[in-house]
Amino acid sequence: MISIIGSGRVGTSIAFLCVSNALDDILLVNRDEGKAIGESLDVSNAIPSTSKFSITGTSDYSKIIGSDIVVITASMGVYLNDRTENMVSQTTMIKEIAQKIKQYCPTAIVLLISNPLDILTYFFQKETSFSRFKVFGIASSLDTSRFRYLLSEKFSVPQSSVDGALVLGEHGDSMVPIFSRVKIGGKSLTSLLNDDEQASITNAVRNYWKDLRHYKSRSQFGIAKNAFDVIDSIVNNREFSVPVSVVLQGEYGENDVAMGVPVLINSSGISKILDIVLDDSESLLLQKSSQRIHDQINSI
Ligand SMILES: NC(=O)c1ccc[n+]([C@@H]2O[C@H](COP(=O)([O-])OP(=O)(O)OC[C@H]3O[C@@H](n4cnc5c(N)ncnc54)[C@H](OP(=O)(O)O)[C@@H]3O)[C@@H](O)[C@H]2O)c1
Repeated sequence: MISIIGSGRVGTSIAFLCVSNALDDILLVNRDEGKAIGESLDVSNAIPSTSKFSITGTSDYSKIIGSDIVVITASMGVYLNDRTENMVSQTTMIKEIAQKIKQYCPTAIVLLISNPLDILTYFFQKETSFSRFKVFGIASSLDTSRFRYLLSEKFSVPQSSVDGALVLGEHGDSMVPIFSRVKIGGKSLTSLLNDDEQASITNAVRNYWKDLRHYKSRSQFGIAKNAFDVIDSIVNNREFSVPVSVVLQGEYGENDVAMGVPVLINSSGISKILDIVLDDSESLLLQKSSQRIHDQINSI
């Protein structure tokens, strides 16, 4: 069973993908039980006739007992200018949810989606003392999708022609698009873009959510698909290379901080944190991103 905490836009979009792809039984948990029940009644109609799985809604956390995976999409409010705006209330919320997950399903793999993503991933892992390889945040893969999309638009090529796009570090204003590993139609990206163009794309990736909100209240489908791909790789034990936020213990020269780094996922969670080569400027930006997350953690 997969339990999804929070039945808002993102939680229900993930549920819809899991149900329509007949991945597993889904439990929606929301503080307002009626919302969880209503969403589950709606998503139930997307269950394929060949599926043996179901979806139910509740506000009762004890029903998560037996979950193999718990996905956290709960949110106390909407941020307007910066993902860290509701950091204090979100951290209080995540510590309460962490205690419940520790009580009811201490062996589950936990995926965090709620913002501020890296801070909540850090505090969830500290609060539960779960293995850091079973607690990770999904966001850098969404930022990577945005980077790939913006490059495909810039060069008027399909996204399938953009190889090696990756965004690491904070899911926030200091995130680091990695230009040095990208190839477009086989050509190195750094030979195709000057410094000003790289800076402009970096800004566009970091501010993508603000541009989106100009037209639509909040994002949901991109993060839902990125989360689904990770859940699918866990459920089907299909090795998957993806950047996620995980508490670091020496990797990339960082300690006691969670941020987006490339990993391999399988049915047991993170099987390996990948050590990839970055250029000097990217390494420096990643250090700065880590410092920003450290500062936020220490401010709570
Ligand atoms: N990682 C990423 O890349 C990414 C991308 C997009 C969004 N996000 C984040 O994902 C989160 C969810 O976004 P959303 O648009 O789905 O928000 P939303 O529509 O406001 O949904 C949040 C849901 O969480 C519920 N909730 C609050 N506290 C809860 C608790 N303690 N237990 C159970 N449920 C609780 C709320 O219930 P009520 O209805 O009772 O208030 C609400 O239904 C936000 O933090 C957002 O910033 C992350």
